[in-house]
Parts: sequence; C-alpha cells; structure tokens
Amino acid sequence: MTVGKHWTLDDIPWDRFERSKVDPELLKVIKAAAMVEYNGGDYATYLCNVFPDDLEFKAAAKQWAGEEVQHGLALGRWAEMADPDFGFQASFKRFTEGYRLPLDARESVRGSRSGELVARCIVEVGTSSYYSALGEATEEPVLRAICKNIAADEFRHYRLFYKHLKRYLDKEGVGRLQRVLVALRRIGESEDDELAYAYYAANGGDEPYDRKRWSHAYAYRAFGYYRPKHVERGIAMTFKAAGLNPRGNLARWTSRGAYRFLKYRRQRLAATAA
Ligand SMILES: [Fe+2]
Ligand SMILES: [Fe+2]
Repeated sequence: MTVGKHWTLDDIPWDRFERSKVDPELLKVIKAAAMVEYNGGDYATYLCNVFPDDLEFKAAAKQWAGEEVQHGLALGRWAEMADPDFGFQASFKRFTEGYRLPLDARESVRGSRSGELVARCIVEVGTSSYYSALGEATEEPVLRAICKNIAADEFRHYRLFYKHLKRYLDKEGVGRLQRVLVALRRIGESEDDELAYAYYAANGGDEPYDRKRWSHAYAYRAFGYYRPKHVERGIAMTFKAAGLNPRGNLARWTSRGAYRFLKYRRQRLAATAA
C-alpha cells in the first residue's frame, strides 16, 4: 500500500483463502463485527448533526465513516467466503431493523462535543485492540490481512478523534473528571445492545432475540482473543483520552486488573454462553 493512499478491497489477497484454517467460533464474531462496521454511514450522519458548524470535523467524519463501511464490506465478504450460507446484506438488514442510532439528535448524547470525542476515542481503542487480537489469533491468511489493514485504520481513527478532542477541550472547558466519566460510561456500554444485537442478527437464525443470552454469547467469544499486550495498549490509549498519565503506575495496575477481569468474566460467561 502506498503512503497516503487508503487500501481498497482489491488490495486484499482473496485468492489466498484457506478454508481449512477458518475457525467457526471466530467466524461468528467476524460476522457480528461486519454488521457494526458497515453501519458507519449512520454514525457520520449523527456526528455531522452534533458538529453542524465544524466543517473540518464534518469532512473528517465522512472520510472516517467511508473507511468503517469498507471494514464492514471486507469482513462481510470474507464471512461469505468462509460460510456460503451467510448473507451479509440480509443479515445487515435484520441488524438495522432492530438497532437504530439516535439520528435525530442535535447535541451529543455525551453532554458536550469533548465528551463525544472522548467516547469516539474509546470506541477506536476498542476496535484497534480487537482487530489486533483477532488478526493475531487467526491462521487464515486472508482474514489476517484484513484484520491487519483494519487495525492500522483504527489506530489512525483514534489519533484523528484525539486531535479534534484537544481542539475542543479548551474551547468547552471540559475537565479531567468529566473526561474520565465519559470514558468509563462508554466502556460500560461495550457489553450493550449494539454488538449483542449484531451478533444475533448475523448468527441467530430464526430464534427470537434475548438480550442477555446473545450479549453473553458474544462477549464470551470476543473476550477470548485478547492477550495482555492488547489490553495494556488499550488501557494506555484510554488513559490518554481521559486526560490521565498513560505510562504511570495507575495505568499499569489498571491494565493488569482489566486483563484479570476479562479472564474472570469469560470464565463466568462460559456457563451461560455455550
Ligand atoms: Fe472499523
Ligand atoms: Fe474506526
């Protein structure tokens, strides 16, 4: 890939696909990820509503959303290769019929623009560490290449939202406590409906939606791919977005605790998420 030029679907080595290396459990979470990513266009609409007078940010948000949509297309195409019975567009339709973003919002649901940008940083922390972990977990060469490209984008997205966050912090006078609270709230939402519903829409067949069951099923699988280094980097990026020292003792203790929590949570979920 040339510098300054974003990758396209044609850069993915589709002909190197190896069916025998597809892990059916990983395939399930990839299908769910494809739903959420492909929904990026709606997020751009929401962000443009929240930053109506900020032309620079609106342009960046549209470009960003185009990249997220492409993530969905790449993952969806891979999932269709890996499982010919999977219909990406049909599943996506089911996802958007059951899950809608607050598209009519005129102000950030996070209380301020800075808050919105902290939340966007946290989402990119989540996706960058997730695709790093998935890319290292899979032996399938095409999925590896896709995850590597996507992870690089997600790290860049984090830097993009962080750059705009710095611009708004002074303007809005948002303090560290508020930033920490927004970050915590957004992390708390990570087991929320969006991913659980995406997982259900892509994997649920004819069954009715049961929020608890599907969110457990999703989290149980997703948590299994993280290694300590992914958590460490994610916590450092989270601390930075929240205005805390990313390299201090608190960050170190938090990342150890977070990794232990993931392992503990996964053990607890094993009983209900089979
Ligand atoms: Fe993405
Ligand atoms: Fe992203």
